[in-house]
Amino acid sequence: MKKLTIGLFGFGTVGQGLYTVLQNSKTVDAQIKRICIKNKDKKRSVDAHLFTANAADILDDPEINLVVELIDNANDAYAIVKGAMQRGKSVVSGNKTMLAFHLQEMIELQQRHNVALLYDASACGSIPVIRNLEEYYDNDLLTSLTGILNGSSNYILTKIFQEGDTYTHALKEAQDLGFAESNPTFDVDGFDSLYKLVILTLHAFGTIVNPNEVFNFGISNLQPCDIQFAREKGRRIKLVARVGKVNNDTITLYVMPRMLTPDLYIYGVEDEYNGVVIRGKYYDKQFMFGKGAGALPTGSAVLSDITAQFHDYRYEYKKYNEPTPPHYVTNNEVEVYLRYNNSKDFEQFVFTEIFEKYSSKEYSYVIGKIPLCNLLSIKHLIPKMDIFLATMRS
Ligand SMILES: NC(=O)c1ccc[n+]([C@@H]2O[C@H](COP(=O)([O-])OP(=O)(O)OC[C@H]3O[C@@H](n4cnc5c(N)ncnc54)[C@H](OP(=O)(O)O)[C@@H]3O)[C@@H](O)[C@H]2O)c1
Repeated sequence: MKKLTIGLFGFGTVGQGLYTVLQNSKTVDAQIKRICIKNKDKKRSVDAHLFTANAADILDDPEINLVVELIDNANDAYAIVKGAMQRGKSVVSGNKTMLAFHLQEMIELQQRHNVALLYDASACGSIPVIRNLEEYYDNDLLTSLTGILNGSSNYILTKIFQEGDTYTHALKEAQDLGFAESNPTFDVDGFDSLYKLVILTLHAFGTIVNPNEVFNFGISNLQPCDIQFAREKGRRIKLVARVGKVNNDTITLYVMPRMLTPDLYIYGVEDEYNGVVIRGKYYDKQFMFGKGAGALPTGSAVLSDITAQFHDYRYEYKKYNEPTPPHYVTNNEVEVYLRYNNSKDFEQFVFTEIFEKYSSKEYSYVIGKIPLCNLLSIKHLIPKMDIFLATMRS
């Protein structure tokens, strides 16, 4: 009878969540044998003899046949996940940053060492997006995936739009509640959403895209005038990640705030929840919704990856293995709202069409179309600009 002997890396939010979920599940014969953490002097809530600060205690233990990697450091996670697979151990990982930058190598390592690497927990927490993309949407009908993939920024935006909170206060509250990290850049500037989007793009379309080549812009420059603009137009601002087909052979992707109208499913995704809308040629649209973060929701997703591994499930990367997955292009145009305070900043943006313009002493805005490649070419300059950017439609 098969038994999973688990070596767990990380005992933070998700590691502890998994521990609790696993204690309360009888689905699989799985037992955590060792837990590797960083700081061996930290007080732990479970048996001290389980803990080690030496990765080799797990990686070199022949009895451990599954490594579960739930640490917060992408470089260390890369070494752990790679080292485990090289030793013939299957792996479950929640580390979107590490995965997004190493997808190709991770696929090759699985093939070379005949092991599985499962990571449904890395994107959208408890919502089973990746496995659905792999299994149900395993054909060429899918045309786009649009989602709110980051719970912290969504929590902040909900407080602003529902309760009239300020950005600074809502961010502080998100940090106090443990939704946002003490350095919130990863969440609020769209990097977390970007890395998840890159992973989802592989499973939705079979295309591996370098995260550095994708445009991401977050919500940290949001000002009261942007909020007022959205309110006056009956819209809500949310941080949205999108990948979609441009034509049969090409896809495009980006992460940007979006001015959402009430008819859209993701308009109603509030607080720390995530929501993903999948569009297809003949089935119009479908919507997945659920908790995208937190100890127990994410722990549940990790358990699901563990049980999938128990039943010898592997991602087949069917679309990636097709002869010609679509290419990533950036010559398409996006319709944006650009608010700026300095005309020098505005001059960096190449509008091909302008629909609306407003100018006052305090601020100005323009609504119009910009080629995505223009945004990408000034990506490095944008953090220094006093602007806010949001798409008006996808
Ligand atoms: N939090 C969420 O809701 C959520 C949702 C989905 C995915 N994820 C992903 O899950 C992973 C873990 O997130 P988290 O929120 O649980 O992080 P966390 O609360 O910060 O905990 C991180 C854990 O990793 C350990 N650690 C760090 N470097 C290590 C190393 N080199 N070797 C061994 N252990 C090490 C830390 O050890 P010490 O305890 O000794 O400090 C700590 O136990 C991340 O990749 C995150 O992106 C998180």
